[in-house]
Amino acid sequence: MNLETALSAALPKTSGLRHRLHAIPELSDQEHQTAALIREELDQMGLGFTQGVPEAPTATIAIVGDPARPCIAFRADIDALPIEEKTGLEYASRHLGRMHACGHDGHTAILLGCASILKGWADDLPVCVKLIWQPAEEEGGGALRLVKAGVLDGRLGPPVDAIFGLHGWPALPLGAVSTRPGPLMASTDRFAATFVGRRCHGAFPHLGRDPIVAACEAVVNLQQCVSRDLDPTEPGLVTVGVVQGGVAVNIIPETACISGTVRTLTHPARHMLRESIQRRCAGIAAAQGCRLQLDWTEGYPPLINDPAMAGYVAATARAALGADRFIPADRPSMGGEDFAYYLASTAGCFFQLGICGAGQESSRSLHTDDFDFPDAALAVGMRMFLSLALNYPGQP
Ligand code: NI
Repeated sequence: MNLETALSAALPKTSGLRHRLHAIPELSDQEHQTAALIREELDQMGLGFTQGVPEAPTATIAIVGDPARPCIAFRADIDALPIEEKTGLEYASRHLGRMHACGHDGHTAILLGCASILKGWADDLPVCVKLIWQPAEEEGGGALRLVKAGVLDGRLGPPVDAIFGLHGWPALPLGAVSTRPGPLMASTDRFAATFVGRRCHGAFPHLGRDPIVAACEAVVNLQQCVSRDLDPTEPGLVTVGVVQGGVAVNIIPETACISGTVRTLTHPARHMLRESIQRRCAGIAAAQGCRLQLDWTEGYPPLINDPAMAGYVAATARAALGADRFIPADRPSMGGEDFAYYLASTAGCFFQLGICGAGQESSRSLHTDDFDFPDAALAVGMRMFLSLALNYPGQP
């Protein structure tokens, strides 16, 4: 079980796989070609796998090692985004209007590279490893469907003792890894508040009820959910990203709608902001003589790392990459990630993988049309996952 030899032997194939995946990006829950490629590779390795679960047919789950040993899971998300690629790369997207702009091609390739190495070590591994290629991270929360299908609790393979996942991180230098105990990423709820007034000519506002005034008042007022209702030491945000209403300059319309995203790092803050938005919108609607229709869509929960497992990731990174290559995350990110669903029921840790090359201030941002996951980060991700498997449960 020589890590260096195994890694250098596997790397060329892993980057080739990443390029093939990059060329065939597919949106959430449509990852059929991607799943076919993953399964073809597993077949070639002679590694058995589960082809999907009832609610997530494009998921692929493989198990390596003795199921009687402690089981740890690694997860890669496999979906892409509705973005037209502008990188000009020779392996650029062949799918019009779709692109691996979040680096999930890198995550998927890292896990395939690990699968081939772990397969060779299967008999000597101190753990059983469950490899999860998960669909629908960007939209739809594929993680929740896999949890419900029993991927962690022993209904689908052995019960999982700890789960680990990674994401390419543009602000972090290549070769480095970062994470923190406790909250790392935010909950991602959405709301749409429709104010229903009474249509009339703009010259006679007293004959109608103006939903535009109500909606505008709400946009400003909702900024006080955080500044007045939330404990000032508690992070949270309300962003209204869409304002819709009206068709003509001289007509007061029937309705106006605002919609936005709400982010928090704890469950109490999440519930508190929901109540605050409901109360404030209802009050504004009443004051303007409008009716309120409020639609709430629960997004991903806050992602909360298990402290012991975050310690294990930190210790592993220091040992496997170098003492200065683990950079503790001094604060969480308000981005969201459906890995949170796994951590809601099982110990584990999500960590950030540096993708910012030397001399760059930051890599290209995620979700932009010129983003590409750097091949040089593949080895770092593989080294982390393999080291986590070899040393588990380690010394936190
Ligand atoms: Ni992503």
